[in-house]
Amino acid sequence: MHSREIFPRSIWSSIPLNKRIWIHRLRTFLAVFPTIFLALILPCTGSDQQPETLKQLIDMYDPASCQECHEEIYAQWQNSHHARSITGIFMARYLKKGPLSVRNPREATRKNFPCFKCHLPQLEKATDAVAAEIAAVILNNDQTTMQKLNISCMVCHQDKGVVHGLPERDVMYGPKAEKEYPEEEHMRVKKSPFMKQAAMCGQCHGLGPVFEFEHPIQCATLYGSYLHAYIPSGGSQTCQDCHMKKADHTCPPNFNDRMDISKRLRQALTMEVNTLAYRFQPIENRFVPMIVLKTKITSNAGHRIPDG
Ligand code: HEC
Ligand code: HEC
Ligand code: HEC
Ligand code: HEC
Ligand code: HEC
Repeated sequence: MHSREIFPRSIWSSIPLNKRIWIHRLRTFLAVFPTIFLALILPCTGSDQQPETLKQLIDMYDPASCQECHEEIYAQWQNSHHARSITGIFMARYLKKGPLSVRNPREATRKNFPCFKCHLPQLEKATDAVAAEIAAVILNNDQTTMQKLNISCMVCHQDKGVVHGLPERDVMYGPKAEKEYPEEEHMRVKKSPFMKQAAMCGQCHGLGPVFEFEHPIQCATLYGSYLHAYIPSGGSQTCQDCHMKKADHTCPPNFNDRMDISKRLRQALTMEVNTLAYRFQPIENRFVPMIVLKTKITSNAGHRIPDG
């Protein structure tokens, strides 16, 4: 049980974050005290072990424990496309037909599963047995398990938090990491300037085909457009500036919210319309009404739209 669940929701939300941490510490101490002795006599299980089952992989990246303190960010993330990075990609179709298809889920390996480089990059850490388990989950349309496979907090704040994806062991990366954080509850937090850079998002939002796989496919291309069109024409904002204002983890646009999408697009694509009406007289006594319509659409986005 989380500390959050001991209090009614309204009271818990009104407790300042630093006080919540102390409540959490006290509760954790009381809860773990009897198990400390057991922990001493049981062999240690290292956190850097390669996950050999799908369950181990899911547990390793489970964001549930972050919810307790980072309640707002967690709720935003849950509403984001990052939280459903597998359920919307029609993977079953690719597994049944075409170059990625497998006759049996057991034939799926990390090498022939290119979609996961960006939609579930943590698979890279696991074994081929886990890739096979995931293929079975997808082919059986096991939605409950698929929902647990996503781009969770640790994917961005650890694996993708430093350049070249070589994070230090047991370190989590944040944009500031200067405030006090509850050390015994947290992995060590380090400041990573990379978290504020466009390249952080570019790791998945696409430059080119993924040549390291058996079937190099290309899905997202947007970061290329950002680098080759927006930046050379004087653009100075990062992806985070436009898509994560005030660290908003919903990362809009949310394609499931049509109203919000139209509002955002109206702001993003400003349209100027100039008209001139006149009459054209090709022959005597014949007047043809004419109109000149000049439209200018300006994209205020940091890349082509639509793009992906
Ligand atoms: C898609 C990548 C991504 C995911 C997933 C993600 N984050 Fe972040 N997070 C970022 C980036 C980038 C920033 C820095 C934004 C900035 O400062 O411009 C950030 C900032 C933060 C901050 C600092 C907020 C502040 O006020 O400066 C916290 C805390 C945080 N994230 C926690 C979480 C938690 C908890 C989750 C999971 C529920 C999560 N993040 C999921 C990319 C991500
Ligand atoms: C017991 C409460 C607690 C839990 C549990 C917790 N955090 Fe934090 N975390 C904090 C506090 C407090 C800070 C200090 C900064 C702040 O006030 O947001 C912090 C800071 C951070 C930062 C650094 C933000 C920066 O300013 O650079 C990140 C990233 C982060 N947490 C992610 C996570 C993730 C991911 C999880 C789950 C694996 C998690 N936290 C679990 C309380 C918690
Ligand atoms: C680990 C890979 C990864 C990283 C890092 C990442 N994204 Fe994403 N992002 C994705 C995937 C995959 C989707 C599509 C999920 C789906 O709907 O299937 C997505 C969806 C989105 C969307 C929703 C719109 C859409 O077309 O689906 C936005 C906006 C977005 N990301 C912005 C960002 C920003 C800004 C950053 C950097 C702070 C970032 N992403 C970092 C992989 C990533
Ligand atoms: C100057 C602001 C700006 C910058 C910089 C920017 N974007 Fe966008 N982005 C937009 C706007 C505006 C839209 C379209 C309307 C919307 O937000 O709904 C958009 C749309 C998107 C979409 C949805 C795809 C589509 O075709 O609609 C994704 C994904 C995305 N951006 C990711 C990124 C990433 C990743 C970066 C950094 C490499 C980035 N954006 C940089 C403003 C920006
Ligand atoms: C290089 C990283 C990368 C690879 C590899 C990749 N994707 Fe994507 N994919 C993304 C990102 C980032 C987005 C979100 C931005 C966008 O809409 O393009 C996305 C979006 C999608 C979407 C739209 C999601 C939605 O909710 O509307 C589908 C479908 C999709 N990918 C399918 C696939 C499939 C299938 C594969 C494997 C054959 C694959 N992707 C491989 C990065 C990738």
